[in-house]
Amino acid sequence: PLIHILNGPNLNLLGQRQPEVYGHATLSDLEAMCRDAARPHEIRFLQSNWEGQIVDWIHEARLEAAAIVINPAALTHTSVAVLDALNAFDGPVIEVHISQVHKREAFRHHSYVSHRADGVIAGLGLGGYVAALRHVATLI
Ligand code: DQA
Repeated sequence: PLIHILNGPNLNLLGQRQPEVYGHATLSDLEAMCRDAARPHEIRFLQSNWEGQIVDWIHEARLEAAAIVINPAALTHTSVAVLDALNAFDGPVIEVHISQVHKREAFRHHSYVSHRADGVIAGLGLGGYVAALRHVATLI
């Protein structure tokens, strides 16, 4: 079964943006790591800075994915639209944050996506994606 890995705004700058928070690895390093961790399952690894694009990809996941691993980035804290889209998806959803959001500014402590997510991982760096994929593999 196919697993969708969705990444929200600014994650294209991984490795360049606030490396003290998000580390030095790039989005393509992360993609390679995920592809490896997911085996034998196939992944569709996507990133967009546009909320509507993330919503459209979640709709596509309804048709083709067994599970979703999502780092909604800033949309975590703002987007009822992403939450509503995830509520229309039937499979497991795991929410991942590279940083430990609860140790950071108060506005990062609330997540709309957590109202739907079956699991939430924060603060494990890129390893959070690997942990999410290992878990998802036990479910699908
Ligand atoms: C993030 C945490 C969010 O608060 C932030 O807006 C991001 C990345 C993380 O992976 O730690 O862009 O989701």
